[in-house]
Amino acid sequence: MKILVVHGPNLQLLGKREVSVYGAVTLNEINESIRALAKELKVQIEIAQSNHEGEIVDMIGNSRATFRGILINPAAYTHTSVAIRDAIAACGIPAVEVHLSHIYKREDFRQHSMTAPACVAQVTGFGKDSYLLGLRGLVSYCSHQCETPKAKSARKKK
Ligand code: DQA
Repeated sequence: MKILVVHGPNLQLLGKREVSVYGAVTLNEINESIRALAKELKVQIEIAQSNHEGEIVDMIGNSRATFRGILINPAAYTHTSVAIRDAIAACGIPAVEVHLSHIYKREDFRQHSMTAPACVAQVTGFGKDSYLLGLRGLVSYCSHQCETPKAKSARKKK
């Protein structure tokens, strides 16, 4: 099983960016923890970060042939992007949305997620652990999910 991990805009700045909100953890440290957990769960992962909405839409749109699920922190696009929401809804594989901060305890504009309704679940407010809990949940969800024969054969051909 292979999982795509997508980090949205400005997350490359973690560790330097608004430390009082996001903590001192860097994106590299988060990625190391994700890789370690993926090893423990015996799943393969690919990790990507982008500041560009269209690039994220493309990654999600092309995901189905290779991946069984998507772990995504859409960052600021969470609150604005119909395009990313539609890509998640259209891609045909489950996505779990994660946030380091507790978005429902922050400014009003962050308290609505455009993208979460297209996801199977959301984990918010546990810092780095949001990613790890989200990955555990996603892998469990995918292992219990019956793949359609068409989706399975499309992945095998790759
Ligand atoms: C975030 C929350 C978003 O509101 C914000 O724009 C981010 C990070 C989080 O992980 O807490 O960039 O997604």
